[in-house]
Amino acid sequence: MDFRGAHILSVNQFQRDDVELVFQVADRMEPCAQRLRVTKVLDGAILGNMFFEPSTRTRVSFGCAFNLLGGHVRETTDVESSSITKGESLYDTARVISGYSDVIVMRHPTPGSVSEFAEASRVPVINGGDGTNEHPSQALLDLYTIKKELQANGLDVDGMRIALVGDLKHGRTVHSLSQLLKTYQNIHLTFISPHELRMPAQIISDLRAAGHNVTETDDMECGLRENDTVYLTRLQEERFDSKLEADIYRGRFRLNQAIYTRHCKPNTVIMHPLPRDSRAEANELDADLNQHPNLAIFRQADNGLRIRMALFALILDVTEKIEESTNEITWYTGGSVRQ
Ligand code: NCD
Repeated sequence: MDFRGAHILSVNQFQRDDVELVFQVADRMEPCAQRLRVTKVLDGAILGNMFFEPSTRTRVSFGCAFNLLGGHVRETTDVESSSITKGESLYDTARVISGYSDVIVMRHPTPGSVSEFAEASRVPVINGGDGTNEHPSQALLDLYTIKKELQANGLDVDGMRIALVGDLKHGRTVHSLSQLLKTYQNIHLTFISPHELRMPAQIISDLRAAGHNVTETDDMECGLRENDTVYLTRLQEERFDSKLEADIYRGRFRLNQAIYTRHCKPNTVIMHPLPRDSRAEANELDADLNQHPNLAIFRQADNGLRIRMALFALILDVTEKIEESTNEITWYTGGSVRQ
């Protein structure tokens, strides 16, 4: 695909070469993401960071990624304080905000809303999550993390075995990641969820049609066996009609040190898009795994910076200018490399 000026709305836009290109550019962002070097390659550019749903990592890392490239960030984080509450359409909002920005990231609770917004926008739009539908930048950073973690274990993405666990019906991160995996080969996917919260049938049939091996189960202990990666998710309680309904499933599937030791292969990589729900009644990923060397969740979150920097650099077509416009940082960092 041609990244220059492109909207990033769905993982289905990507071929394998496109994914690998994003990863190559992300690798080149390492010195800036690690605060060893600083660049002004996007000096003067403005990001419209529009979040109409709660977000910490996605909002802050998109903003920081743009800052790390030397650009400025304008945020709209609250529907209540925007004109959407006065009945303004997505079309009008897009026409207006795209006049103030060079690129826009948008998160919105309604599936399809970011595409609708992008159609009216005069600048590129990146989908930061549209309801239960998609979260393409998260899928890219998840796959980038899986690739790096597996490589460290002497494995490859092609042929890997991954278990995705939890609310697979409503989780946009697992929807996007599963679909992005179609660009690789011979993946074994095990979807572990309550029957009512299964992965959408269309995603499963697309994966099978692309030659991948898919198993569905509601038996966590069986499903965990033989995987190279296990990807936990939070119960998406905001997508349920009532808290009472969500309570039925809360805490059904958990991973902790004891379960990991008993049922996972020794080097299984542990992932979660975060936030993990650490309340006792949920606790899908126990803090007793915090020191585990295979717990990749914070490396995963860190990788979000590199991937989002790469997307901005590709869309705004500055990848060739990055190295020439970087300098040593001037401030004290304690000499530590972040990892
Ligand atoms: C996820 C999201 O918003 O879809 N968070 C994220 O972006 N890292 C997952 C979640 O909220 O459970």
